[in-house]
Amino acid sequence: MPGPPSRSRALPSSEHPLTPVDFHHQTVLLHETVDVLLPKEGKVILDGTLGGGGHTEALLARGATVVGVDRDPVALAAATARMGGNARFQARQGNFAELSSVAQDLLPVDGVLVDLGVSSPQLDVAERGFSFMKDGPLDMRMGDTGPTAAELIAITDERDLAQILRDYGEEPFARPIARELKRALPQRTLEAAEVVKRAVPRKAWPDRIHVATRTFQALRMAVNGELEALDALLASLPSLLKVGGRAAVISFHSLEDRKVKEAFKALVGGCTCPPGFPVCVCNSQGNFALVSKKAVAASDAEVEANPRSRSAHLRAVEKVR
Ligand SMILES: C[S@@+](CC[C@H](N)C(=O)[O-])C[C@H]1O[C@@H](n2cnc3c(N)ncnc32)[C@H](O)[C@@H]1O
Repeated sequence: MPGPPSRSRALPSSEHPLTPVDFHHQTVLLHETVDVLLPKEGKVILDGTLGGGGHTEALLARGATVVGVDRDPVALAAATARMGGNARFQARQGNFAELSSVAQDLLPVDGVLVDLGVSSPQLDVAERGFSFMKDGPLDMRMGDTGPTAAELIAITDERDLAQILRDYGEEPFARPIARELKRALPQRTLEAAEVVKRAVPRKAWPDRIHVATRTFQALRMAVNGELEALDALLASLPSLLKVGGRAAVISFHSLEDRKVKEAFKALVGGCTCPPGFPVCVCNSQGNFALVSKKAVAASDAEVEANPRSRSAHLRAVEKVR
Protein backbone atom coordinates (compact mmCIF):
# COMPACT_ATOMS: atom_id res chain seq x y z
CA MET A 1 0.00 0.00 0.00
CA PRO A 2 1.42 3.41 -0.81
CA GLY A 3 2.13 5.43 2.31
CA PRO A 4 1.92 9.19 2.50
CA PRO A 5 4.76 10.91 0.72
CA SER A 6 7.93 11.41 2.70
CA ARG A 7 7.66 14.42 4.97
CA SER A 8 11.23 15.42 4.26
CA ARG A 9 10.68 15.81 0.54
CA ALA A 10 10.99 19.33 -0.84
CA LEU A 11 7.51 20.55 -1.61
CA PRO A 12 5.96 23.71 -2.87
CA SER A 13 5.41 25.91 0.13
CA SER A 14 1.79 26.73 0.77
CA GLU A 15 0.47 28.84 3.53
CA HIS A 16 -1.52 26.95 6.14
CA PRO A 17 -4.76 28.68 7.04
CA LEU A 18 -4.61 28.93 10.81
CA THR A 19 -7.88 30.75 10.95
CA PRO A 20 -8.87 31.60 14.49
CA VAL A 21 -12.41 30.33 14.95
CA ASP A 22 -14.85 29.77 17.76
CA PHE A 23 -13.89 26.17 18.38
CA HIS A 24 -17.10 24.21 18.90
CA HIS A 25 -16.63 20.47 18.79
CA GLN A 26 -19.30 18.26 20.29
CA THR A 27 -17.45 15.67 22.35
CA VAL A 28 -18.42 12.05 21.67
CA LEU A 29 -18.91 9.35 24.34
CA LEU A 30 -17.87 11.85 27.01
CA HIS A 31 -18.95 10.07 30.21
CA GLU A 32 -18.21 6.58 28.93
CA THR A 33 -14.64 7.58 28.02
CA VAL A 34 -13.95 9.48 31.21
CA ASP A 35 -15.28 6.60 33.34
CA VAL A 36 -13.04 4.10 31.54
CA LEU A 37 -9.91 6.16 32.27
CA LEU A 38 -10.53 6.22 36.06
CA PRO A 39 -9.34 9.81 36.54
CA LYS A 40 -8.61 11.11 40.02
CA GLU A 41 -6.19 13.34 41.90
CA GLY A 42 -2.59 12.34 41.32
CA LYS A 43 -3.23 10.48 38.07
CA VAL A 44 -1.58 11.68 34.87
CA ILE A 45 -3.47 11.24 31.62
CA LEU A 46 -2.29 11.97 28.08
CA ASP A 47 -5.06 13.18 25.77
CA GLY A 48 -3.46 12.58 22.36
CA THR A 49 -6.26 14.31 20.48
CA LEU A 50 -6.99 17.39 22.56
CA GLY A 51 -9.24 19.01 19.89
CA GLY A 52 -11.75 21.30 21.59
CA GLY A 53 -10.75 19.88 24.97
CA GLY A 54 -14.10 18.28 25.83
CA HIS A 55 -12.67 15.03 27.21
CA THR A 56 -9.76 16.84 28.86
CA GLU A 57 -12.06 19.25 30.66
CA ALA A 58 -14.05 16.36 32.16
CA LEU A 59 -10.86 14.49 33.17
CA LEU A 60 -9.58 17.64 34.90
CA ALA A 61 -12.93 18.01 36.67
CA ARG A 62 -12.33 14.59 38.23
CA GLY A 63 -8.99 15.74 39.64
CA ALA A 64 -6.53 14.24 37.13
CA THR A 65 -3.54 16.02 35.62
CA VAL A 66 -3.91 16.13 31.83
CA VAL A 67 -1.38 16.79 29.12
CA GLY A 68 -3.25 17.50 25.89
CA VAL A 69 -1.49 16.86 22.60
CA ASP A 70 -2.74 17.88 19.16
CA ARG A 71 -1.06 18.46 15.83
CA ASP A 72 -3.37 21.39 15.14
CA PRO A 73 -2.16 24.68 16.65
CA VAL A 74 -5.66 26.17 16.34
CA ALA A 75 -7.09 23.38 18.51
CA LEU A 76 -4.29 23.78 21.05
CA ALA A 77 -4.94 27.51 21.36
CA ALA A 78 -8.69 27.05 21.69
CA ALA A 79 -8.42 24.25 24.27
CA THR A 80 -5.83 26.15 26.27
CA ALA A 81 -8.20 29.12 26.48
CA ARG A 82 -11.02 26.78 27.53
CA MET A 83 -8.99 25.29 30.41
CA GLY A 84 -8.60 28.80 31.81
CA GLY A 85 -5.13 28.41 33.29
CA ASN A 86 -5.90 25.19 35.22
CA ALA A 87 -2.55 24.27 36.81
CA ARG A 88 -3.17 20.56 36.18
CA PHE A 89 -3.39 21.13 32.41
CA GLN A 90 -0.68 21.49 29.83
CA ALA A 91 -0.93 21.63 26.01
CA ARG A 92 1.76 20.36 23.66
CA GLN A 93 1.85 20.38 19.88
CA GLY A 94 2.70 17.02 18.38
CA ASN A 95 1.57 13.83 16.74
CA PHE A 96 0.12 11.10 18.96
CA ALA A 97 2.23 8.66 16.94
CA GLU A 98 5.19 10.14 18.84
CA LEU A 99 3.79 10.33 22.36
CA SER A 100 6.84 8.53 23.71
CA SER A 101 8.97 11.51 22.74
CA VAL A 102 6.35 14.28 23.00
CA ALA A 103 5.60 13.23 26.60
CA GLN A 104 8.87 11.49 27.44
CA ASP A 105 9.29 13.42 30.70
CA LEU A 106 5.95 12.09 32.04
CA LEU A 107 6.21 8.40 31.26
CA PRO A 108 4.86 5.99 32.25
CA VAL A 109 1.39 7.51 32.72
CA ASP A 110 -1.95 6.36 34.15
CA GLY A 111 -4.01 6.91 31.04
CA VAL A 112 -3.87 7.53 27.31
CA LEU A 113 -6.80 8.70 25.21
CA VAL A 114 -7.19 9.16 21.49
CA ASP A 115 -10.45 10.30 19.89
CA LEU A 116 -9.67 9.79 16.22
CA GLY A 117 -10.49 11.83 13.15
CA VAL A 118 -11.09 15.49 12.63
CA SER A 119 -12.88 18.00 14.80
CA SER A 120 -15.97 19.88 13.65
CA PRO A 121 -14.14 23.23 13.34
CA GLN A 122 -11.56 21.59 11.07
CA LEU A 123 -14.39 20.40 8.82
CA ASP A 124 -16.40 23.59 9.03
CA VAL A 125 -13.76 26.16 8.10
CA ALA A 126 -13.71 26.25 4.29
CA GLU A 127 -10.08 27.47 4.17
CA ARG A 128 -8.87 24.25 5.78
CA GLY A 129 -9.99 22.40 2.70
CA PHE A 130 -11.65 19.31 4.22
CA SER A 131 -15.16 19.87 2.88
CA PHE A 132 -16.58 19.02 -0.54
CA MET A 133 -19.53 21.29 0.32
CA LYS A 134 -17.55 24.51 0.83
CA ASP A 135 -15.09 26.14 -1.51
CA GLY A 136 -11.55 26.37 -0.20
CA PRO A 137 -8.00 25.39 -1.08
CA LEU A 138 -7.61 21.61 -1.34
CA ASP A 139 -5.51 21.44 1.83
CA MET A 140 -6.84 18.92 4.45
CA ARG A 141 -3.81 19.10 6.76
CA MET A 142 -4.68 18.86 10.44
CA GLY A 143 -1.29 20.30 11.36
CA ASP A 144 0.83 22.97 9.77
CA THR A 145 3.42 20.87 7.95
CA GLY A 146 3.62 18.43 5.04
CA PRO A 147 1.96 18.29 1.65
CA THR A 148 -1.61 19.45 1.10
CA ALA A 149 -4.16 17.22 -0.63
CA ALA A 150 -3.60 19.15 -3.89
CA GLU A 151 0.15 18.55 -3.59
CA LEU A 152 -0.39 14.88 -2.74
CA ILE A 153 -2.40 14.42 -5.94
CA ALA A 154 0.34 16.14 -7.94
CA ILE A 155 3.23 14.07 -6.54
CA THR A 156 1.56 10.65 -6.38
CA ASP A 157 1.34 8.57 -9.54
CA GLU A 158 -2.06 7.46 -10.80
CA ARG A 159 -1.76 3.85 -9.71
CA ASP A 160 -0.74 4.79 -6.14
CA LEU A 161 -3.45 7.41 -5.97
CA ALA A 162 -6.05 4.80 -6.95
CA GLN A 163 -4.65 2.52 -4.23
CA ILE A 164 -5.06 5.31 -1.65
CA LEU A 165 -8.71 5.79 -2.71
CA ARG A 166 -9.30 2.04 -2.49
CA ASP A 167 -7.49 1.41 0.78
CA TYR A 168 -8.57 4.45 2.77
CA GLY A 169 -11.90 5.24 1.14
CA GLU A 170 -13.08 1.80 -0.01
CA GLU A 171 -13.95 3.67 -3.24
CA PRO A 172 -15.23 1.33 -5.97
CA PHE A 173 -14.38 3.84 -8.74
CA ALA A 174 -10.84 4.43 -7.50
CA ARG A 175 -9.15 4.03 -10.86
CA PRO A 176 -11.30 6.43 -12.95
CA ILE A 177 -11.31 8.98 -10.12
CA ALA A 178 -7.51 8.81 -9.80
CA ARG A 179 -7.17 9.22 -13.57
CA GLU A 180 -9.43 12.30 -13.58
CA LEU A 181 -7.69 13.81 -10.53
CA LYS A 182 -4.29 13.44 -12.20
CA ARG A 183 -5.64 15.00 -15.39
CA ALA A 184 -7.32 17.96 -13.67
CA LEU A 185 -4.91 18.51 -10.72
CA PRO A 186 -7.62 20.34 -8.72
CA GLN A 187 -6.50 23.13 -6.40
CA ARG A 188 -9.88 23.84 -4.76
CA THR A 189 -12.27 21.58 -2.86
CA LEU A 190 -15.30 22.16 -5.07
CA GLU A 191 -13.16 21.62 -8.16
CA ALA A 192 -12.08 18.23 -6.73
CA ALA A 193 -15.71 17.32 -5.97
CA GLU A 194 -16.61 18.14 -9.61
CA VAL A 195 -13.76 15.92 -10.81
CA VAL A 196 -15.17 13.00 -8.80
CA LYS A 197 -18.66 13.65 -10.18
CA ARG A 198 -17.26 13.51 -13.71
CA ALA A 199 -15.36 10.29 -13.05
CA VAL A 200 -18.25 8.28 -11.57
CA PRO A 201 -21.17 7.35 -13.85
CA ARG A 202 -24.31 9.19 -12.67
CA LYS A 203 -26.28 5.98 -12.13
CA ALA A 204 -23.55 4.68 -9.77
CA TRP A 205 -23.63 7.68 -7.40
CA PRO A 206 -24.40 6.47 -3.88
CA ASP A 207 -27.87 7.26 -2.47
CA ARG A 208 -27.01 8.15 1.09
CA ILE A 209 -23.67 9.95 0.81
CA HIS A 210 -22.20 12.53 -1.56
CA VAL A 211 -20.34 10.89 -4.42
CA ALA A 212 -17.09 12.60 -3.29
CA THR A 213 -17.31 11.46 0.36
CA ARG A 214 -15.04 8.43 0.00
CA THR A 215 -12.48 10.28 -2.10
CA PHE A 216 -12.27 13.14 0.40
CA GLN A 217 -11.98 10.70 3.32
CA ALA A 218 -9.18 8.81 1.59
CA LEU A 219 -7.25 11.95 0.66
CA ARG A 220 -7.60 13.27 4.22
CA MET A 221 -6.35 10.00 5.71
CA ALA A 222 -3.38 9.93 3.34
CA VAL A 223 -2.48 13.60 3.80
CA ASN A 224 -2.45 13.16 7.58
CA GLY A 225 -1.02 9.62 7.67
CA GLU A 226 -3.95 8.71 9.94
CA LEU A 227 -3.73 4.90 9.90
CA GLU A 228 0.06 5.00 10.22
CA ALA A 229 -0.27 7.28 13.26
CA LEU A 230 -2.80 4.90 14.82
CA ASP A 231 -0.49 1.92 14.24
CA ALA A 232 2.39 3.76 15.90
CA LEU A 233 0.23 4.80 18.85
CA LEU A 234 -1.05 1.25 19.39
CA ALA A 235 2.48 -0.15 19.22
CA SER A 236 3.70 2.37 21.80
CA LEU A 237 1.04 1.63 24.46
CA PRO A 238 3.14 -0.88 26.47
CA SER A 239 5.85 1.74 27.00
CA LEU A 240 3.45 4.63 27.64
CA LEU A 241 1.41 3.07 30.43
CA LYS A 242 2.28 2.06 33.97
CA VAL A 243 0.81 -1.11 35.47
CA GLY A 244 -2.83 -0.35 36.25
CA GLY A 245 -2.87 2.32 33.52
CA ARG A 246 -5.54 2.35 30.84
CA ALA A 247 -5.74 3.30 27.18
CA ALA A 248 -9.00 4.34 25.50
CA VAL A 249 -9.45 4.72 21.75
CA ILE A 250 -12.53 6.16 20.03
CA SER A 251 -12.70 5.34 16.33
CA PHE A 252 -15.19 6.31 13.66
CA HIS A 253 -14.83 3.81 10.90
CA SER A 254 -14.24 0.15 10.39
CA LEU A 255 -10.64 0.44 9.13
CA GLU A 256 -9.62 2.10 12.39
CA ASP A 257 -11.76 -0.04 14.67
CA ARG A 258 -10.38 -3.22 13.12
CA LYS A 259 -6.83 -2.04 13.84
CA VAL A 260 -7.68 -1.17 17.45
CA LYS A 261 -9.47 -4.47 18.01
CA GLU A 262 -6.57 -6.51 16.59
CA ALA A 263 -3.88 -4.56 18.44
CA PHE A 264 -5.74 -4.92 21.74
CA LYS A 265 -6.21 -8.64 21.11
CA ALA A 266 -2.45 -8.99 20.60
CA LEU A 267 -1.71 -7.00 23.78
CA VAL A 268 -4.05 -9.20 25.78
CA GLY A 269 -2.40 -12.30 24.33
CA GLY A 270 -4.11 -15.41 25.52
CA CYS A 271 -4.18 -19.04 24.70
CA THR A 272 -2.45 -20.09 21.49
CA CYS A 273 -3.26 -23.79 21.84
CA PRO A 274 -4.81 -25.43 18.76
CA PRO A 275 -8.63 -25.18 18.83
CA GLY A 276 -9.21 -28.90 19.61
CA PHE A 277 -7.15 -28.96 22.85
CA PRO A 278 -9.30 -29.90 25.88
CA VAL A 279 -7.15 -27.88 28.34
CA CYS A 280 -4.71 -25.00 27.87
CA VAL A 281 -1.10 -26.12 27.82
CA CYS A 282 0.56 -22.97 26.45
CA ASN A 283 -0.13 -20.76 29.50
CA SER A 284 0.47 -17.75 27.31
CA GLN A 285 -0.72 -14.46 28.69
CA GLY A 286 -0.20 -10.86 27.70
CA ASN A 287 0.40 -7.85 29.89
CA PHE A 288 -2.98 -6.27 29.15
CA ALA A 289 -6.66 -7.02 29.80
CA LEU A 290 -9.68 -5.74 27.90
CA VAL A 291 -11.74 -3.31 29.97
CA SER A 292 -14.86 -4.53 28.18
CA LYS A 293 -15.23 -7.33 25.65
CA LYS A 294 -17.30 -5.31 23.19
CA ALA A 295 -16.78 -1.82 21.89
CA VAL A 296 -18.93 0.80 23.62
CA ALA A 297 -21.29 2.67 21.28
CA ALA A 298 -23.19 5.92 21.74
CA SER A 299 -26.64 5.80 23.35
CA ASP A 300 -29.74 6.52 21.28
CA ALA A 301 -30.02 9.88 23.01
CA GLU A 302 -26.45 10.83 22.09
CA VAL A 303 -26.94 9.75 18.46
CA GLU A 304 -30.07 11.86 18.28
CA ALA A 305 -28.29 14.89 19.73
CA ASN A 306 -25.09 14.36 17.72
CA PRO A 307 -25.43 12.19 14.58
CA ARG A 308 -21.62 12.04 14.23
CA SER A 309 -21.56 9.76 17.30
CA ARG A 310 -23.49 7.06 15.39
CA SER A 311 -20.31 5.42 14.11
CA ALA A 312 -18.20 5.89 17.26
CA HIS A 313 -16.63 2.82 18.88
CA LEU A 314 -14.84 3.09 22.20
CA ARG A 315 -12.40 0.33 23.15
CA ALA A 316 -10.14 0.24 26.19
CA VAL A 317 -7.39 -1.91 27.68
CA GLU A 318 -5.65 -1.98 31.04
CA LYS A 319 -2.01 -2.84 31.60
CA VAL A 320 -2.22 -5.52 34.27
CA ARG A 321 1.39 -6.66 34.69
C1 LIG B 1 -12.21 14.32 17.16
S1 LIG B 1 -11.12 15.60 17.56
C2 LIG B 1 -10.90 15.43 19.29
C3 LIG B 1 -11.99 16.08 20.08
C4 LIG B 1 -11.78 16.11 21.58
N1 LIG B 1 -11.72 14.79 22.15
C5 LIG B 1 -12.86 16.91 22.24
O1 LIG B 1 -13.61 16.37 23.04
O2 LIG B 1 -12.96 18.11 21.96
C6 LIG B 1 -9.63 15.00 16.95
C7 LIG B 1 -8.44 15.93 17.15
O3 LIG B 1 -7.28 15.12 17.04
C8 LIG B 1 -6.31 15.80 16.30
N2 LIG B 1 -5.49 14.75 15.69
C9 LIG B 1 -5.86 13.86 14.75
N3 LIG B 1 -4.84 13.03 14.47
C10 LIG B 1 -3.81 13.42 15.27
C11 LIG B 1 -2.48 12.92 15.46
N4 LIG B 1 -2.01 11.89 14.77
N5 LIG B 1 -1.72 13.52 16.39
C12 LIG B 1 -2.18 14.59 17.11
N6 LIG B 1 -3.43 15.10 16.96
C13 LIG B 1 -4.22 14.51 16.05
C14 LIG B 1 -7.06 16.65 15.33
O4 LIG B 1 -6.28 17.77 14.97
C15 LIG B 1 -8.30 17.03 16.15
O5 LIG B 1 -8.10 18.25 16.82
